[in-house]
Amino acid sequence: MIWMGIESSCDETACAILQDDFPRPRILANELYSQIREHEIYGGVVPEIAARAHLEKIAVIVRSALQKANKTPKEIQAIAYTRGPGLMGPLLVGANFARGLARDLEIPAYGINHLEGHIAAAWLFAETLEAPFLTLTVSGGHTELVVENPGFRYELLGRTRDDAAGEAFDKCGKLLGLGYPAGPLIGKLGKTGNRKFHHFPRALKNRDNGDFSFSGLKTSVLRYVESNTPEFIRENIHDICASLEDAIVDTLVHKVIWALKKTGLRNLVVGGGVSANARLRERLSHYCEPRGIGLHFPSPPLSTDNGAMIAAAAIRRAREQALLQNSEIKPWMPLAD
Ligand code: KG4
Ligand code: ZN
Repeated sequence: MIWMGIESSCDETACAILQDDFPRPRILANELYSQIREHEIYGGVVPEIAARAHLEKIAVIVRSALQKANKTPKEIQAIAYTRGPGLMGPLLVGANFARGLARDLEIPAYGINHLEGHIAAAWLFAETLEAPFLTLTVSGGHTELVVENPGFRYELLGRTRDDAAGEAFDKCGKLLGLGYPAGPLIGKLGKTGNRKFHHFPRALKNRDNGDFSFSGLKTSVLRYVESNTPEFIRENIHDICASLEDAIVDTLVHKVIWALKKTGLRNLVVGGGVSANARLRERLSHYCEPRGIGLHFPSPPLSTDNGAMIAAAAIRRAREQALLQNSEIKPWMPLAD
């Protein structure tokens, strides 16, 4: 069966074509337009501008995905699109396009939870993965520790009380004068830096719960920037980025270990933009490998938003005959509610 996946929840207009092969679907095309240019001067995503950019690009991206996959629209048998959570305007553009196209082609359209999409991205790379397993979703909008039980039943162990991990990377990066989104750049600059250069706070790290908080880190970076000269920041940017990355990654890893110990689960799935972070991958495999805990990541390009993960999430559900009617999914619902 040939699936189309459409993602438009934030600042990426994305479309993928997947063939449902076994054991895992094959990605025939995965096209994406990233709106970085539209938003970088504002240092963050502007919802209204994002919606307009999706409207402008969606048909182009869908056509390009069909071409890359060497498929005609008539060969597509089902469409999956991001139903939520995400920005309302951008979501509406994707949903309307997907449902209009599906109606025209007389095929079904399924609304998919974006966070379930991030989990499905890792599933694409996992040879075997049976629920229950622990999931960490770390993106620009979410930081959640959730157990996936059989039948797509989710159990929330903890989430951020304020900023998401990706948001922390981006906002701290902005304070340091780095572009948007700063997450990938902080990872790159930090690679050659000294992680012990400065100790940034790790909020809630030692609490016996799965909660995160990153807003204090932002304040701490602000104070740090204010109490040093711009030259000092520039000259030591590698060390500062390494220290900052270490604070965020250390907190995430600590909470994952807490959750693994609490649940006794033997498989961990990590998804969302921040799961592209090399240091996070290294730290988690350092913990999981010697303990025989299965660690599942998407390839780094599939960690950030894309259409393949949305189609993959629909395929996972279709295989378990658990696809929901559109009306049953509330778009702004977090995974575990
Ligand atoms: O999943 P995603 O593409 O969009 C949302 O659903 O939010 O995640 C985007 C976030 C941004 O905050 C970006 O800075 C962060 O993921 N990110 C990274 C890396 N690549 C992307 N953060 C740290 N290290 C990276 N390599
Ligand atoms: Zn995302």
